[in-house]
Amino acid sequence: MDPSVYGDHTSSIQAKHIENSLDGLTIDEALDRDKLYILDHHDSLMPYISRINSTNTKTYATRTVLFLKDDGTLKPLAIELSLPHPQGEQHGAVSKVFTPSQEGIAATVWQLAKAYAAVNDSGYHQLVSHWLYTHAVIEPFIIATNRHMSIIHPIHKLLKPHFKDTMHINALARHTLINAGGVLEKTVFPGKFALEMSAVVYKNWVFTEQALPANLLK
Ligand SMILES: [Fe+2]
Repeated sequence: MDPSVYGDHTSSIQAKHIENSLDGLTIDEALDRDKLYILDHHDSLMPYISRINSTNTKTYATRTVLFLKDDGTLKPLAIELSLPHPQGEQHGAVSKVFTPSQEGIAATVWQLAKAYAAVNDSGYHQLVSHWLYTHAVIEPFIIATNRHMSIIHPIHKLLKPHFKDTMHINALARHTLINAGGVLEKTVFPGKFALEMSAVVYKNWVFTEQALPANLLK
């Protein structure tokens, strides 16, 4: 996020929030063993939080730090919930970090923090991971392949099965799923800003980064 527009958006998650939850490892050891992950929806959602919260939907932008346990499951260690600064977006974010708790009010608040992280993630999944990064980005490749590549070209033959039904599904989606007032706007938390948000995220989509390990590192 451009600091001249949005101010300081450095995460407020600190070592103290996670260092005692690493199954006996230090933070450096956990990092060395590839056991720490972040689910970071902060930057893509933050520019929309004020507008989303002016509707009936109220949400936060979230960052979640996860630990890969020995049994192969991911355990959330800390969740940061952020809002734009009340005196203006140029002043950065107001953030609070929550950690796991089993009892009393803290346990309820932890459940709520996880719910906000999950809602962020399901909206991002449908709009960006699913619609944008699979259905939408492949469309130009399908059109270009059909227009410019001979059907006997080996690459045409290689690509064709991957393109099966996509144009048809996307055409249906434009009528009922991603249209104004459609299913996406009704079901994901960004509401009427949903498709604009997805289009803005597309500006950071780079073809050469669409493979492992590049897209995981990004
Ligand atoms: Fe799909």
